[in-house]
Parts: sequence; structure tokens; C-alpha cells
Amino acid sequence: MTQETVLILDFGSQYAQLIARRIREAGVYSEILPFNTSWKEIEARHPMGIVLSGGPDSVFAEGAPHPEKELYDFQGPLLGICYGMQLMAHHYGGKVSPSQNREYGKAILQIVDGSPLFQDLPKKTEVWMSHGDRIETLPPDFVVIGRSENALAGMAHEDRKIYGIQFHPEVVHTPCGKQILKNFLLEICKCRADWTMSSFAESAVTEISAQIGQSQAVCGLSGGVDSTVAATLVDRAIGDRLTCIFVDNGLLRKNEFEEVLQELQEKLSLNVVGVDAGREFLEPLAGVEDPEAKRKIIGEQFIRVFEREAKKLGGIQFLVQGTLYPDVIESVSVLGPSATIKSHHNVGGLPEKMNLSLVEPLKNLFKDEVRRVGQELGLPESLIQRQPFPGPGLSVRIIGEVTEARLYTLREADKIVEQEIKGADLYAKIWQSFAVLLPVKSVGVMGDERTYENVIAIRAVHSVDGMTADWVPLPHELLGRISSRIVNEVRGVNRVVYDVSSKPPSTIEWE
Ligand code: XMP
Repeated sequence: MTQETVLILDFGSQYAQLIARRIREAGVYSEILPFNTSWKEIEARHPMGIVLSGGPDSVFAEGAPHPEKELYDFQGPLLGICYGMQLMAHHYGGKVSPSQNREYGKAILQIVDGSPLFQDLPKKTEVWMSHGDRIETLPPDFVVIGRSENALAGMAHEDRKIYGIQFHPEVVHTPCGKQILKNFLLEICKCRADWTMSSFAESAVTEISAQIGQSQAVCGLSGGVDSTVAATLVDRAIGDRLTCIFVDNGLLRKNEFEEVLQELQEKLSLNVVGVDAGREFLEPLAGVEDPEAKRKIIGEQFIRVFEREAKKLGGIQFLVQGTLYPDVIESVSVLGPSATIKSHHNVGGLPEKMNLSLVEPLKNLFKDEVRRVGQELGLPESLIQRQPFPGPGLSVRIIGEVTEARLYTLREADKIVEQEIKGADLYAKIWQSFAVLLPVKSVGVMGDERTYENVIAIRAVHSVDGMTADWVPLPHELLGRISSRIVNEVRGVNRVVYDVSSKPPSTIEWE
């Protein structure tokens, strides 16, 4: 049975990823493609339907993004959202007028006609509207299916299954949005909607077997959920022909190397080589304070260690990576397909240097989907719920020089943060929570004596994908407990502060 796919053409919408998530939540596999993807490439994916996303432009703007014309002759269903709707209205012969102001905000959608797109919706419902250009006259044979106070909110050509809506069904401010997308997928595209994480895991294993054949593969494991799920899928496909390499770079958290190694080997039965390489990282880091210089050293050492270990194994042709979908989407695809693809800072440089082919079984998934695959594969919950941890480890949380003594201080403080956050049942609800060692000393008083010691900052953020983040208003009692435990239990720290910055303008890690 072939996999049903609904494609999203991205015209520069900040919500393109959200549309994909909603469609997948409804059980249909969905991918985002740049608006100017060739029609041949689109057709080759046999989409059950195509969504034209919103975008910041006016259809009249110079250089406004347009798809290849063949799109409009697609025999399957089309759904245009905002800009996507304007494009359609314009193309199919309606009259669209430019407007001076774009308007965003809550509006009431009033359903005009019994369109299948609005099936099971109340006659009036709140939607998140965005309108720039105005549709003055509908294209021939189109009908109005929804209105708002200020705008035409929906149009349709029911026979040709072409739909346009002026509001965003993918955002939470449109409470019936999920139902609208579901109607599009089930009633209009006639999808079976049977895309689940277990069906994903099954087909991923088959694909990996076909890709790797009888060859050997290596995987750099970090103990994080992405690389572990990727390795487990490949392990299911090729078994012992996969060797995982887990490098202790000396920058891991307290007892992390031993605990993770044990878990990977015993609970997951993965074929893992643990490499104790702490000194190889810490020696070149001595005396280095600049954040970028630190990252560079760590990246280079990682490549060196990894290459050496892989060479020892011999005959390797494939490298497994836990790359996720947000890493590979061309998020600013309106600027052209070649614009910014985020570089994978974890393993940057490895494939080119080592002449290995990449296996990236998770490259079409979002983080929460990867966690669900992990559950399907029976990975322990403790592993699935692990918060992300950066490749350069604690080095980006020790501001300034990384030394054994400072690593010790941070590890002890970090352990307390983790214990307390877990104790408050917040660990799995927060994207990341951790301690940072600052390069300042401050005056304190302990047992009638003046102290002049280190400062620890606590950081806790909510995030969906790490691209943006909000600081978490942790309960005051919890902050108080963390602070007094750190000051009492970690020698050399006499002050704890809480980081209340969001990203942007700050970043999640301090370096
Ligand atoms: P920033 O600090 O840029 O981090 O807001 C965003 C997310 O990425 C993680 N991070 C990294 N992960 N290698 C990684 O594997 C890195 O060099 C790296 N730097 C930051 C960070 O923990 C956060 O989740």
C-alpha cells in the first residue's frame, strides 16, 4: 500500500511547519516544499492534495512568489490559505485588489454554504484572520463559502475541489481549524489517514535495509533521543552491521557516560563502543575563552576521535545521523531553494571528510514524532523524555575557560537542578532546564565569614523546536529550594540567579 502524502507549497509562511504538523496529527503524511519546486517533482510524489501556504507578499508585489503554472491544472484537491487563496483567485480569473494594510487578528467566520470543507462546524466560529489583498470578484464558477465582517473568508469550486480560505486553520486561535483540515483530508482528498508512528517505523526499517544492503554502518550516539531512535531503527534493519560510537568528551554531565552507556548496551542491546576521550578535548581547551574557538576545538576533536574509531572498525560505508525535519526544511524557501539550510552543528564536516553515505531515517520527522517512534520501538521512557543536550556539552554552559575544577562545580550544581525539576514533575514538560557557571565572583557571607565565590545561573525554557523559546516562570519555592541546595551543597558557589530571557533576543545556551 502506498503512503498517502499531502504536500504543502511554502510561499514564505511562518506557519508552514505548523500546517505540516496538523496534517500529520490527522494521520496523513505531509511534506513542505518550496513554492518553486518543479511540477515534475511535485507530481512524482503523487500527492492526494496540495496546500498553498500563506506568505508575507501581495500577489501584485514585484518578485512575489508564484508556483509553476501546471499546479493550477492539478486534478486533485487544492487548498489555498491566505496568500495561497489570493494566488488562486488571481489565477482562475477573479479580481484581486491590492490593499494598503495587512490585517491580522481574531474574526468571526460565518459559514455561507454547506461546503464539505466546513462540515460539522458551527454556523459561526472564531478564526485567526490575515488579510492583505482583497478578493473583489470571485473567479467564474467559484462560490462564497464563508464570510467575516470585513472580508471574504472562504471560496470554493466544489466540482474541481479547489478551496481557498482567508484565515489560518493551523493556529490555535482558530478552534475549528483542526476540523477544517480534517475535512479537507478525509472528505475532500479522501485520505485513509493511516499514517502512524508504527507504520513509520515499519517502513523506515524496510527502507534502511534497502539502502544499506550488506554494508557496514556507524552511528555517533550522544545518548539523546534523536541519535538513539535513529540507531535503534538501523539496528532493527541491519543488526550487528551497525556499530555505535559514544564519545566521552569530558564535557558530559555527572555520571552521564557510564549511565547512558549501560542503558544503551543493556536495555537496548545496541552494539556500542564507548570511547573515553576526555583528555583529548580538555587539553586543547585549556586557556581558551572565546565561545566560537571552544566550539571549533570540540568539533575538530570530535571528528578526529570519531574518524579514528571508525577506521579501527574498517570497511564502513554508511554514517547514521539523527537529523530532524526542522534541520532540513528550507525555512526561508521564498528566497529560493538554495537559501539557508541550517547546518547540523553536531557532526558538521564528518560525511565530507570520511567519504561516507548518510543514513538519516528521522529527517522527515518533528521532535515529538521522534519521541513517539521511540515509544513504538519500546525505548525506556527515561530516554525518550530526555531534554536536549548540546553537542559541545557543558563547555557552552561554562562561560570562559573550561577547567576540571569548573566542570566539577557545574556538574554538581546541574545535578541538583535536574533532581529538583524532576522532583517537581516538570522535567518532561520543559524543553530544557539547566545550570550555567558564570565567570564572575561575588561577595557573600556564610557562617559569619565573608566569602568571595562563584555565581550559578539557572535557565529553564519552553520551546517547540529550539528555534524560539520562552523562559519558564518556575514556582518561587522551587527556585528557592534549588538555590539553597546549590549554595549549601556545592563548594565554591555562594549565589544563584535566574535567567529570565527569551529567545530571541537571547539564545537558549549562554555560549
Ligand atoms: P541556542 O543556544 O542556539 O540553542 O538557542 C538551540 C538548541 O540547540 C541546542 N544547541 C546545540 N545542539 N550542538 C547541538 O547538538 C550544538 O552545538 C548546540 N548548540 C546549541 C541547545 O541546547 C538548544 O536546545
